[in-house]
Amino acid sequence: MSSHLILPAGAALLLMAMLTSCDPGDRAAGAAGGDSVLPDPHSFARPQEARVRHVSLDLTPDFASHQLSGTASLTIERAAGADSVILDVRDLAIRRVTTPGGEQLAFALGEGDSIRGQPLVIRLPERADTVVIEYQTSPSAAAVQWLSPLQTLGKRQPFLFTQGQAILTRTWVPTQDSPGIRQTYDAVIHVPAGLRAVMSAELVDPDGETAGGLTAYRFRLDQPVPPYLFALAVGDLAFREIGPRSGVWAEPALVDSAAREFGEVEQMIAAAERLYGPYRWGRYDLLVLPPSFPFGGMENPRLTFATPTVLAGDRSLVSLVAHELAHSWSGNLVTNATWDDFWINEGFTVYLEGRIMEELRGKDYADMLRQLGRQSLLATFQELGGPQSPDTRLHLDLAGRDPDLGMNDVAYEKGAAFLQTIEAAVGRERLDIFLRGYFDRHAFQPMDSERLLQELNQHLFAGDEQLESRVRPREWVFEPGLPDNAPPERAAAFEKVDRQVAAFREGARPGDLQTRGWSTHEWLHFLRALPDTLDHDRLQALDQTFGFSETGNSEILFQWLRSAIRNHYEPAFPALERFLTSQGRRKFVAPLYQDLAATDWGRDLARRIYARARPGYHSVTAATVDRFLQPQPGG
Ligand code: BES
Ligand code: ZN
Repeated sequence: MSSHLILPAGAALLLMAMLTSCDPGDRAAGAAGGDSVLPDPHSFARPQEARVRHVSLDLTPDFASHQLSGTASLTIERAAGADSVILDVRDLAIRRVTTPGGEQLAFALGEGDSIRGQPLVIRLPERADTVVIEYQTSPSAAAVQWLSPLQTLGKRQPFLFTQGQAILTRTWVPTQDSPGIRQTYDAVIHVPAGLRAVMSAELVDPDGETAGGLTAYRFRLDQPVPPYLFALAVGDLAFREIGPRSGVWAEPALVDSAAREFGEVEQMIAAAERLYGPYRWGRYDLLVLPPSFPFGGMENPRLTFATPTVLAGDRSLVSLVAHELAHSWSGNLVTNATWDDFWINEGFTVYLEGRIMEELRGKDYADMLRQLGRQSLLATFQELGGPQSPDTRLHLDLAGRDPDLGMNDVAYEKGAAFLQTIEAAVGRERLDIFLRGYFDRHAFQPMDSERLLQELNQHLFAGDEQLESRVRPREWVFEPGLPDNAPPERAAAFEKVDRQVAAFREGARPGDLQTRGWSTHEWLHFLRALPDTLDHDRLQALDQTFGFSETGNSEILFQWLRSAIRNHYEPAFPALERFLTSQGRRKFVAPLYQDLAATDWGRDLARRIYARARPGYHSVTAATVDRFLQPQPGG
């Protein structure tokens, strides 16, 4: 055990004794919860002994020192005889722990590791069930990104945002940071004039309360959620209403175009409700973040966080909104119990996303999404070492590893393909009824692979062994690769694209190809289907005709830049460098560096661009790129 022990000596000894048996595998069966009994290899908590029910935050961001400081008051429920609670923390400075009445409580930080952080053990008072933790975050807290005014659109105010998934909430909130331990929360955030706070919770008083130069914004989330869904952003934010229960927050210069881009959100919510039952979170708002936001979207409850790279101007990338909205059922209502079953969040969500988009745009459109998804899956299998690799299984074993490593297209696209397979076997109508019941039966509860298979047996196959053997659910969940009963994904709309690719391969000039009316998805298919090797004249003709290097569509640009790197096509490199230094979405940034770093000529270029870009990236993106491009000293 490392670290400091705080008084009195007797209590400290007791805590040390506790910590030595701090093995997440050995959990007493017990009373304090009724949630997941599965051990979570990424949390130190022992919820059967004592578990957090509610978190109440009072935090003040300091934009000069890049720290949040204040208190977290936790309401604890405990089994008979439990005299301490174990939380997850990483890089937090714990100042004191008290009862609400101010009586000091003994606490100790136990030994941890760089992935999970440390256990924080707090001695519980005899009677009270609330502990007040006074603490401060580290300037390098992995969840939090602090942006200078120059890194924002408006250039006048700083910005900060948090990203909790998978196990980063513990770097800004001391709590039991496991997806199986749901908690309600409330918060008061004190911010300087000119800034506004938003959270994944109900804004209790829209104008805030100003005192002593700071405005306090109050929030409350009454539905219990896993802590990875706690989220905060502070910046110069404006709001536009876009529907009866929806709106968008963004920097003032962006808010109108964002409101236009997301104008269909009420139709999406209504479509999802018809399919999967009521939207249970009250409002559904979106927040457009600065370009360093490391994901396309993050399904924070009541307030999806989104990258500005989704604003293509023509609503062509809004399936991302359908995706994050779908998490309001798959993920936020029924939640993977541990990160080993991340596919239960993402695979279901990709399937739901396709269904919502089919309601909005029709079958041809959704078929394109599904075929692009299948292509990505097959490419991911190759990157993971082929379809026999154990990491191509849906159910993973991430103990001892960073859960981020399991967060690839296997969970998303193989997971969705599993549901497509079930749909093909039982019919859409029966699957829809099953899913609706599944969300109701397990609302606000964790779900794991074994339990899901039981659900399918009980509520879908219902003793029909022939049906079950047609689906082969255990093979899907526990074996590598793509089972051969996966329905093929063929979008009719891509047949015409394939004909144009064939013509191009046979020598047709780009200007002679029939591309009128193509949507983003047709262009993505076109770019992916191009020959791996192309000479520079052909690439130049493509770029001059279609303007790929100059496109404002981030997905198309990304796909084009991959072709450019593959062929060492230097005229596209200024666009490449611009793209890598102007946004930090991991899905775009990491593969481009990786492609560059895999060539003899590109490794130094990658390092040079990365040295310049890295300070602008969120830790999630930087940590991924660091794995294959060690940062240069001083970079
Ligand atoms: N929950 C994920 C984002 C995430 C995944 C955060 C893993 C942390 C760890 C979100 O719902 C998501 O999947 N976003 C996608 C977009 C979507 C349309 C596939 C993304 O960010 O690209
Ligand atoms: Zn998702």
